[in-house]
Amino acid sequence: MRTSSTFARFFIGLVLLLGLAKPDPDPLQDYCIANTNTPPPFFMNGAHCIDPSLASTTHFVTSALSKPGNTTASQFGYSVTIANTTNLPGLNTMGLTMSRIDIARDGLVPPHWHPRASEVTTLLKGSLLVGFVDTSNRLFTQQLRVGDSFVFPKGLVHFLFNLDSVGPAMCLSGFSSQAPGLQSAALASFTSKPGIPDEVLRAAFKINGQDVAKIRRNLGG
Ligand SMILES: *[C@@H]1O[C@H](CO)[C@@H](O)[C@H](O)[C@H]1NC(C)=O
Ligand SMILES: *[C@@H]1O[C@H](CO)[C@@H](O)[C@H](O)[C@H]1NC(C)=O
Repeated sequence: MRTSSTFARFFIGLVLLLGLAKPDPDPLQDYCIANTNTPPPFFMNGAHCIDPSLASTTHFVTSALSKPGNTTASQFGYSVTIANTTNLPGLNTMGLTMSRIDIARDGLVPPHWHPRASEVTTLLKGSLLVGFVDTSNRLFTQQLRVGDSFVFPKGLVHFLFNLDSVGPAMCLSGFSSQAPGLQSAALASFTSKPGIPDEVLRAAFKINGQDVAKIRRNLGG
């Protein structure tokens, strides 16, 4: 009896603690315009603020997402342009950001995840096959048409594939963190520096040494 109530208290405490965990801290003031001119001499969570009396409208506006990215610069045929504290200093501490994703015909944003943010994407041009896999290994996938939106839960592996072999696709994504972070399944596994030992990759993917070398080469690792 006593043990189970201790356990229950511990469990409730743990649940409360997890419930309080937030991706980004709440701002303690109206805004905290990122000071991008003088790099802080120490590391902190987010960026320094400028003096609030120096804030102007320009700190809250950016045209960074207005132009298409260069999809041929990526081996997978996509380009992500993200608003961050450099091009939109007013988003510092707001717990959100947006990105523009351009995907060439037959292009793919390969399976990846954002460790710090959930994402909602709206397709503005073309058609996209999107999907994510949850922690029970279940796939949720959908073919999006222009105007459709799709949510990728925080930290779960997902992809965006342009099914259209003729035209490019373009979508806008919102994120629940000013710094969502991005990790690619393929690149993290095969092109890290230094590399994950071959024997680990052979065992993990049930492939031989030549396969490991070939995949590393294909991915530019
Ligand atoms: C796009 O990237 C490719 C490959 O890096 C480069 O050759 C090309 O000049 C770039 N195009 C533009 C418009 O920057
Ligand atoms: C913002 O994004 C640009 C382009 O990707 C990058 O060069 C810059 O370092 C980023 N700034 C921050 C604070 O992450």
